[in-house]
Amino acid sequence: KKVVLAYSGGLDTSVILKWLEQEYGCEVVTFTADIGQGEEVEPAREKAQAAGIKEIYIEDLREEFVRDFVYPMFRANAIYEGEYLLGTSIARPLIAKRLVEIAAETGADAISHGATGKGNDQVRFELTAYALNPDIKIIAPWREWDLLSREKLMSYAAEHGIAIEQKRDGTKSPYSMDANLLHISYEGYDLEDPWVEPGGDMWRWTNDPQDAPDTPLEITLTFTRGDVTAIDGKAMTPAEVLAELNRIGGEHGIGRADIVENRYVGMKSRGCYETPGGSILLKAHRAMESLTLDREAAHLKDELMPRYAELIYNGYWLSPEREMLQAAIDQTQAVVNGDVRLKLYKGNVLVVGRRSETNSLFDESIATFEEDAGAYDQGDATGFIRLNALRLRVQGRQR
Ligand code: ARG
Ligand code: SIN
Repeated sequence: KKVVLAYSGGLDTSVILKWLEQEYGCEVVTFTADIGQGEEVEPAREKAQAAGIKEIYIEDLREEFVRDFVYPMFRANAIYEGEYLLGTSIARPLIAKRLVEIAAETGADAISHGATGKGNDQVRFELTAYALNPDIKIIAPWREWDLLSREKLMSYAAEHGIAIEQKRDGTKSPYSMDANLLHISYEGYDLEDPWVEPGGDMWRWTNDPQDAPDTPLEITLTFTRGDVTAIDGKAMTPAEVLAELNRIGGEHGIGRADIVENRYVGMKSRGCYETPGGSILLKAHRAMESLTLDREAAHLKDELMPRYAELIYNGYWLSPEREMLQAAIDQTQAVVNGDVRLKLYKGNVLVVGRRSETNSLFDESIATFEEDAGAYDQGDATGFIRLNALRLRVQGRQR
C-alpha cells in the first residue's frame, strides 16, 4: 500500500507523514508544489529525506497554475459573495490533479491531504480527485485522528522526533495562512471575533493604503483574447504578469479584503485576504470588456458569474456544469483585445483609459453629443419608448 501526500514540509503535514506510516503501515510519497506561495520548496526535500521518504516530488507549477486556472477564472470576472477572489479555491484542483497523476506514476492507491474536516479545502481536493480517478482512496487525517489541538500535535511531533522549527524569516504567524501567486489568506486567531480588526502586522503582501506612495503609478495592460499578455508593452508569461502586478499592487496597498464568508460545509467563517494582482486584473478586464463585448453577451456573463464563482468555491472545477460555463465564457473572449490604462493609488485601481484597434464597439459618431452624421435618428426613440411603454400604460390605466 502506498499513499501520495500533499506535503508542505511544515509541522502539520510532517505529523501526517509519520501518522500515515504508523496508522496505515503504508509507504508515503511526498508531493510539494511551488505555486507562488513565496516560500522555498527545496527544504521540503531535505525534510522528506530525513523522514526516510524514497519518492519525493517537487514541482514548479506556477505557469500552469496561472495559465490554466487563474486566467480562465478571470475571464469570467469571478467573485464569490461579492468580495472573495477565490485565491485558495482555484489552487486546490491543480494540487489534487497532480496528486492523482503521481499516484498513477508511482503505483499508489491512495492520496492524502492536510485539510481539516471543517473547511472547504477537503471538498475541493476530493471532488477533483474523484473526478479524475473514481477509485482513488483518500485519507484525510484531520477527520480521523484525535490530534485536534495544537498541544497534541506538538507532543506527537516531539514523541516522533519531528522538528518543530520556526519560519525561515524568524517570524511566526499565529494565523492559519494559505498563499499562492493569486493571494495570501489569513484565518483563525483574533479573526475569530468578526468585530476585531486584525493587527497591522498580519498583512504581509500589501502596504497599508495610508502608507502607500503619494504619487500614483500609471500602467498599461495589454489584453489578448481576455488574458493580460503584456505590461507597459513588455510581453510576459501569465505567471510573470501576476507576480509583477502583485509587486506593484502590494506597494500601492491594493487588494485587501476582510470578510465573513459562507463555507460550503455550512458555517460562516471570517477571513482576510490580500489579492493585489488579482484586484488589478479584475478591474482592468472589466474595462476591456466594456469596450469590446456586446451588451447582451456581457450582461448574460454577469448573470452566470455568481454561479460560476460558487462552483469554484465549492470545489466543482471538474464538473460538467463548470466546463459548460467555461466554454461559453471563453467563446466571448475572442474579441477582448486591446489596452487598458490604469492608475494605482493608495489602495485604489483607477481606470483612466481603454482602447482596442481591432474590436472596439464604441462608435464616437453614434455616441457623440455633437450633431451626428445620421447613424442615429433621435426621432426613432419616440416609437421605441411608446412601444416599450404600452404594457405599462395598460397597467397604469388599471391602477
Ligand atoms: N476561506 C478561504 C477559502 O475557502 C481560504 C481557505 C484557506 N485555506 C487554508 N488551508 N488556510 O477558499
Ligand atoms: C481547512 O479547514 O483545512 C482550511 C479552511 C478551509 O478549508 O475552508
